[in-house]
Amino acid sequence: MVGIYLSGTGNTEHCLKKLLEGLDPQAEAISLGSAGTASAVAENEEIFLAYPTQFSNIPYMVRDFIDSHGTLWKGKKVFCLTTMGLFSGDGTGCAARLLRKYGAEITGGLQIVMPDSVCDSKMLKKSPEKNREIIAEADRKIEKSIGEIAAGRYPREGLSFPAHLAGLFGQRLWFFGKTRNYSKKLKIGDACVGCGLCAGRCPTGNLSVRDGKAVAGERCTMCYSCISLCPKQAITLLGKSVVEQCRYERFAAPAAEVKPAE
Ligand SMILES: Cc1cc2nc3c(=O)[nH]c(=O)nc-3n(C[C@H](O)[C@H](O)[C@H](O)COP(=O)(O)O)c2cc1C
Repeated sequence: MVGIYLSGTGNTEHCLKKLLEGLDPQAEAISLGSAGTASAVAENEEIFLAYPTQFSNIPYMVRDFIDSHGTLWKGKKVFCLTTMGLFSGDGTGCAARLLRKYGAEITGGLQIVMPDSVCDSKMLKKSPEKNREIIAEADRKIEKSIGEIAAGRYPREGLSFPAHLAGLFGQRLWFFGKTRNYSKKLKIGDACVGCGLCAGRCPTGNLSVRDGKAVAGERCTMCYSCISLCPKQAITLLGKSVVEQCRYERFAAPAAEVKPAE
């Protein structure tokens, strides 16, 4: 058993690792973009694939990973896990359908509400208390799912036909263009001091530092990792300025340690 994940602000990483810990403490969770993801698929029969929902769709990097290793999925048992700020419809189903095309067997799906990761928009922003409640609820759901999976009853969230319709008509049709390709719309503002933190953490290698300033290419998978980490809040994507840097660690911290959004 192995876990493979994309996680921009830490939500999906937390959920996948908690699930795996409960199912098989020896199972590794490997981040997309690091070495060894393809061989992990090749070497394991059971795979937990986890990613954040983006406009009720799969992040482009995850789609690309599935497509570019098409032959490796044949006969694999894949469980799809998505995290979402509010609504996903068939967030798991999008990957499941693609994986089935390559011959994978889908064992189940889990869609978990977590804090919103879009740092440069006021939409869906919640208080630190509310985010802590959301995480506690997510943890309870994962614990329950561990029991069910261990008993051979895999949850099937997001895999049904009604879920497909909900995802398609609820969001995907209207936002399809945003998840069709890698984005070239990442903006680096004048506040950038070229520290390189963003470049070091970008899963697609889309950022580099040139002449003392970060430079973005055309392979942004919209994960918000860089935006949530930049010490100068100099990076934006969907919005014009950073409202609140979203990180799982920050939201999960005890109340006294949560700094107010700047
Ligand atoms: C570009 C983008 C699009 C998103 N679209 C949705 C969405 O359609 N529905 C939803 O509920 N959450 C949406 N979210 C929120 C994330 O799915 C959610 O916060 C997720 O837990 C982030 O996981 P991560 O911390 O592992 O990156 C979106 C986030 C981003 C960055």
